[in-house]
Amino acid sequence: MARLAFGGDYNPEQWPESVWQEDVRLMREAGVTMVSVGIFSWALLEPAPGSYDFGWLDRVVDLLHDNGIGVDLGTPTVAPPKWFYDRHPDALPVTEDGTRLAFGSRGAICHSNQAYRDASSRITEQLARRYGTHPAVRMWHVHNEYGVPVSACYCESCAAHFRRWLAAAYESVEDVNHAWGTAFWGQRYGSFAEIDPPRLTPTVGNPAQKLDYRRFADATLRENFVRERDILHRLAPGIPVTTNFMTALSQCDSLDYWAWGREVDLVTNDHYLITDGRRTHVNLAMAADLTRSVAGGAPWLLLEHSTSGVNWQARNPAKAPGQMARNSLGHVARGSEGALFFQWRQSRRGAEKFHSAMLPHAGTDSRVWREVCELGAAVRELAPVAQTRTVADAAVLWDWHAWWAQSLEWRPSEDHDARERADSFYEALYDHHLTVDFAHPEADLSAYPLVVVPALYLATEATARNLRAYVENGGTLVVSYFSGIVDEHDAVHPGACPGAFRDVLGLTVEEFSPLLAGESVRISGPEGAELTADVWSEFVVPRGAETVWTYEDGLTAGRPAVTRHSFGRGTAWYVSTRLSAAGLGPVLAAASADAGIDPRPGLPRDVEVVTRTGATGTFVFAINHTPDEVKVPARGVELLTGERAPAGVAVPGGAVRVVRLDEAP
Ligand code: GLA
Ligand code: ZN
Repeated sequence: MARLAFGGDYNPEQWPESVWQEDVRLMREAGVTMVSVGIFSWALLEPAPGSYDFGWLDRVVDLLHDNGIGVDLGTPTVAPPKWFYDRHPDALPVTEDGTRLAFGSRGAICHSNQAYRDASSRITEQLARRYGTHPAVRMWHVHNEYGVPVSACYCESCAAHFRRWLAAAYESVEDVNHAWGTAFWGQRYGSFAEIDPPRLTPTVGNPAQKLDYRRFADATLRENFVRERDILHRLAPGIPVTTNFMTALSQCDSLDYWAWGREVDLVTNDHYLITDGRRTHVNLAMAADLTRSVAGGAPWLLLEHSTSGVNWQARNPAKAPGQMARNSLGHVARGSEGALFFQWRQSRRGAEKFHSAMLPHAGTDSRVWREVCELGAAVRELAPVAQTRTVADAAVLWDWHAWWAQSLEWRPSEDHDARERADSFYEALYDHHLTVDFAHPEADLSAYPLVVVPALYLATEATARNLRAYVENGGTLVVSYFSGIVDEHDAVHPGACPGAFRDVLGLTVEEFSPLLAGESVRISGPEGAELTADVWSEFVVPRGAETVWTYEDGLTAGRPAVTRHSFGRGTAWYVSTRLSAAGLGPVLAAASADAGIDPRPGLPRDVEVVTRTGATGTFVFAINHTPDEVKVPARGVELLTGERAPAGVAVPGGAVRVVRLDEAP
């Protein structure tokens, strides 16, 4: 991609052909370069089994091509036609309690079902053969948002598939019994054939079985992606294959995107603002950083976001003037090679007619349309940033398997939420203007001066070795409570907690002491500083670590709350209670000082400054989420206004500026 992409989902089948001409004319006016087509079109493309109607899609793809607009062509396998289900009712997914879901929305799929696999292969082959050499096709969009709305099915064919998966993962059923701890509550299995999915049980089910089922369900979805991808690679070589992720932890919790990132040719992501009262631009930045990280730092593409409100939350506020551009360019700053939306033209019918679009019901005489056209022009001006890479200051460790394990029932406190810890630590780093890469706990961390572990309940031996080596070799580590507790089978590491991290942290935890709802504790630190914490406290026993903050009240009064341990050539910090993002500030500032990181001083926390660098130069994105003008120290040419910024760039309230630096910093 020599330029950045701009566009959205295009669903021409919802409109008479007479509208298509106006669509492409307006797409050109807005600067659209690529649209996603055909994602839900199976019932139109194959109206009866084995009988195909590609005429309308031929005309759409040709029309787009004639107008210089590229196509991200969908395989429609997220929406099998009604005739398919009438022939194969067992392809409908079954919930934990045995309910079979019905046709009539989308994504109602048992991914183990062989009839579904065969039928989806056939339609994919047809599309690959027909459009694989069409010059408009830039990319394949397989399925849609795997994992949502159904992430796991509990039917009989899934049970059989699960047994096959277990037989491949474990040597023998005795190994399963050991790993799952079936000696507890008399759950021992005599053979693989006896094992079922973790269906609804009278009281809490086996946690390790549930954890393995999440792994199995994720792997099963991935099998289906890989099956379609391989068909496309074989029949339509040279066209990159993707499927749209939803890395935001609040939007999809069922896929291990580290594993998915390795399977796609290009990582693409969908992101929607969750308007729950928190700072939506921080959640957006986190999702974008996580997406770049699952892409291994390589360029990725924002395939969907919204121009204004969505329609699937309880309350769906419109975006404020300028907010769309800040959102779109916020993704670009963090590595996206463009900005695409759901969707091009707002629907009149169906479930999403109140979801905003590039071309709203109000038409072109509207604020949204004017802002879309301005954004299209801005994206064109940003062509030089294509293929450059975002520069990160620190790493945050994240692992979906650890999250799944942490989210199981009967833990010391239901108020401890791994995602919330990740959000808050991320927010604290964001507020210090530090750009974050996410990393898998077993990844090479040597490039990062600072590594933060917000919630890593499950930590393997390999993770323990990795973090030990990282600190020994001079790294600075910050670990939050209830991390390093269990192994990959949810079995507590031998000895005192946190078994995986005792030595590197220089401490043990004698007992957890979670706080009651609404309860808080005070902790005191350097120079008489005080903070309030909640949710969690524990009895920390230093074994080499020094106490930096101390509990002032509660059961743990007088005990260490935050510790620091010199280990090898590095330092490991431990935070044993829940601090808000603001409360984490002083702790992370001290750790940053150990790491030799100098947070960008003097900027309000809601001014985002992110750097992309590469062969075409170094680009500083300054995104001003405040109403007031700020000056950002970046000298060079500003790409959106074309003005020189010899003494730093002035960024008006609510605006975005992108400076190509005169010299690399
Ligand atoms: C998802 C889907 C789209 C659409 C949007 C609406 O991202 O992929 O088809 O439903 O949500 O927000
Ligand atoms: Zn099933």
